[in-house]
Amino acid sequence: MNLEFPKNFWWGAATSGPQSEGRFNKKHANMFDYWYEIQPEEFYNQVGPDTASNFYNSFREDIALMKEIGLNSIRTSIQWTRLIDDLEAGTVNEDAVRFYNEVIDEFIKNDIRPVINLHHFDLPVELYHRYGGWESKHVVDLYVKFAERCFELFSDRVVDWFTFNEPMVIVEGEYLHQFHYPNLVDGKKAVQVAYNIQLASAKAIARFRELNRNPDGRIGIILNLTPPYPKSDAPEDLAASEFADLWLNQLFMNASTLGEFPEKLAAVLEKDGMLWDASQEELTTIKANTIDYLGVNYYHPHRVQAPAVSPNSLTVDWMPEKYFDEYEMPGRRMNVDKGWEIYPKAIYDIGINIRDNYGNIDWFVSENGMGVSREERYLNEAGVIEDDYRIQFIQEHLYWLNKAMAEGSHCFGYHLWTPIDCWSWKNAYRNRYGFISTNIHTQVKTIKKSGHWIKNVAETNQVTLEDTLIKTIENN
Ligand code: BG6
Repeated sequence: MNLEFPKNFWWGAATSGPQSEGRFNKKHANMFDYWYEIQPEEFYNQVGPDTASNFYNSFREDIALMKEIGLNSIRTSIQWTRLIDDLEAGTVNEDAVRFYNEVIDEFIKNDIRPVINLHHFDLPVELYHRYGGWESKHVVDLYVKFAERCFELFSDRVVDWFTFNEPMVIVEGEYLHQFHYPNLVDGKKAVQVAYNIQLASAKAIARFRELNRNPDGRIGIILNLTPPYPKSDAPEDLAASEFADLWLNQLFMNASTLGEFPEKLAAVLEKDGMLWDASQEELTTIKANTIDYLGVNYYHPHRVQAPAVSPNSLTVDWMPEKYFDEYEMPGRRMNVDKGWEIYPKAIYDIGINIRDNYGNIDWFVSENGMGVSREERYLNEAGVIEDDYRIQFIQEHLYWLNKAMAEGSHCFGYHLWTPIDCWSWKNAYRNRYGFISTNIHTQVKTIKKSGHWIKNVAETNQVTLEDTLIKTIENN
């Protein structure tokens, strides 16, 4: 069976500035740079962001490899901590302007569409120490200044813009579940930070519409939509699933696409005394500045059940998880290295949800992928990593994506995380995701089997699936 994809479909991959470039010549430290400085033992094998995958120095060679495997679009991010010299005034650093101009030009020269994101977990740490970071509306305005500089400098050539990557991960990592510096557990701050990031996104979109220099220019947001699936049809499990969806997905999705936060969520937050501080003027800005299109990062589903303890009887501090518990579905398929369930059909459910509940807005899969450790296990005699598991993972997701598209969902592309193995926050280089491997000691980069495979897909806009694989897909 051949899956057919439209001409001009985006076949590409995503990375971020902090995870690929390395810290070279950056004036400011971001939250992770700082965390590594003070607690390197928190990072896998104590490998930090210093060199990352050396993109700052080797971007021409790296882009040549991306071209070689047929990718027609790449997302990366501009680092606030690199571009801006004076964070309050929003003045730019000349070396950074040179660097990003050269990167953008190199992509375009190689017929690769540069897709630029403005924030990938990389708040300048000074702004956290001075103002509480995203807790502060002053920081929202400083981010908007940074965004303005990006639009002024690069929107003559960059058509595709995104304001944030996975804002919910910032909320969870920094304020709820302790996997991003400063590792707080504070529900009230978490809610305010979610609101402030949405406000920052809307304000940046407003400025984009004034400053954009390209008639085709578009701006959106990238959300990690993790569909919740309830354990059963029991009313308590359904209620848990509904709240998980409101908090994890609809909060940013509704505000970004429809211009309003979900009323049901706001009502629960208000009842609990947790609602964000918002002005009418800010809500009007959010309403008026919805996105042109959407990026969806999808890795794994959420399986949820009613919380073991009734939300009303909890005396502990407020957490969104008082309304839902995770549930380990028996027999689930796992990527054991990363500890995430593999459930490709969710991509179909996401596509249909966008079609039916969000005005069938244009969207693309902005991240999907499989992090696998010790991939040298799969090296063949020719020195190529035979990552058949990754090819199958992509094929299965494309099967369901193709079905959602056939049923009218407006998806225009698929990006794997990531083109070249890159540094992964606390996990550093433990799990590898790329079409191309990186030796972190020598920085030698080698195309994996999946890289050769995607080239053929990108050239033909077709994905061939064996009958046995289709049976596996349909039985899962
Ligand atoms: C996404 C992020 O959530 O997942 C990436 O946008 C990240 O920045 C990727 O690297 C993979 O997750 P991890 O934890 O394995 O790096």
